Amino acid sequence: MMKEIILVTGATGTVGQEVVKSLLNKNVKIRVGVRDIDKIKNTPWFNQVESIILDYEKPETIKNALKGVSKLFLVTAPGTYQEENVAKSILAQAKGQELKHIVRLSGMGADKHNLFANHNAADNLLLSSSINYTALQPNTYMQNFYNYSTSIKAQQKIIEPAAGSKESFIDVRDIAAVAATVLTQSGHENKIYELTGGESLNYYQVAKQFSEVLKKEIVYQPLTEQEYISAKEAEGMPSEFVKRFVAFFQMVRNGEYAHVLPSVEKILGKPPITLKQFIMDYRDKFVS
Ligand SMILES: NC(=O)c1ccc[n+]([C@@H]2O[C@H](COP(=O)([O-])OP(=O)(O)OC[C@H]3O[C@@H](n4cnc5c(N)ncnc54)[C@H](OP(=O)(O)O)[C@@H]3O)[C@@H](O)[C@H]2O)c1
Repeated sequence: MMKEIILVTGATGTVGQEVVKSLLNKNVKIRVGVRDIDKIKNTPWFNQVESIILDYEKPETIKNALKGVSKLFLVTAPGTYQEENVAKSILAQAKGQELKHIVRLSGMGADKHNLFANHNAADNLLLSSSINYTALQPNTYMQNFYNYSTSIKAQQKIIEPAAGSKESFIDVRDIAAVAATVLTQSGHENKIYELTGGESLNYYQVAKQFSEVLKKEIVYQPLTEQEYISAKEAEGMPSEFVKRFVAFFQMVRNGEYAHVLPSVEKILGKPPITLKQFIMDYRDKFVS
């Protein structure tokens, strides 16, 4: 029997590359759709996948990439906010093709906040389409802590406007493992999965875990909203992004990202990766 073809998008990005790795040991043919094939040439998996040009802004590349594909892992880039347009384009280009199931990286709270209106619109559009759909709505990635690697190395500090509020951070390797399971097992069609890590931690607790693993004191410095805005403006962050992060941290401070769900363990049959394990696995990123 011919292996089914799964198309993975976003494979140069944080989650997509882990989805490719998670699919390698499944009995499927992986096609990776990227804007620039040179960007993946040095990955350890390059020779185990088929690579194809795919740019959401060029519909003919979507049509071409979908040929013979039965399942799709769909990532939209942060900052484009065109999630709904990308979903529309995929559905249009999938007409008359064999696509049966789309698994899309959405975000936790997509249906609750204006901030994520575009994710929500894309989820609703795909849920109401004739193609099976699964929305993955993860909480904040542990891998976002890479953003602190400079401040952890240089100042031994983690700096955020999160006050003492908690988040159930999730490792993207768990998101990817869930995606690979959903893409290769039946029973997950037309579902929305909110995904969290297994523990809810505030940034003081996060800093303590970094201190323990890195064996040096890392301190959490909470910022006021205004201090955060000034710091991001000074870094040159575009005001659109600053506004989004400010709104996001308001929700974090309201405790909206603190809950722990059993979804990852239910789907994978094993507990989610802990923050401690994440720091141990990526220790090199946080030490000079
Ligand atoms: N960060 C978090 O904590 C978090 C939590 C929950 C949900 N999310 C959601 O996760 C998504 C982002 O995933 P990620 O972190 O894996 O993203 P990422 O690392 O920024 O990667 C984005 C990917 O999208 C690709 N891309 C950009 N524009 C494209 C286009 N026009 N056509 C085809 N591909 C294009 C990029 O390819 P190039 O290399 O060509 O640019 C890259 O592979 C967002 O929708 C965000 O809302 C994030």
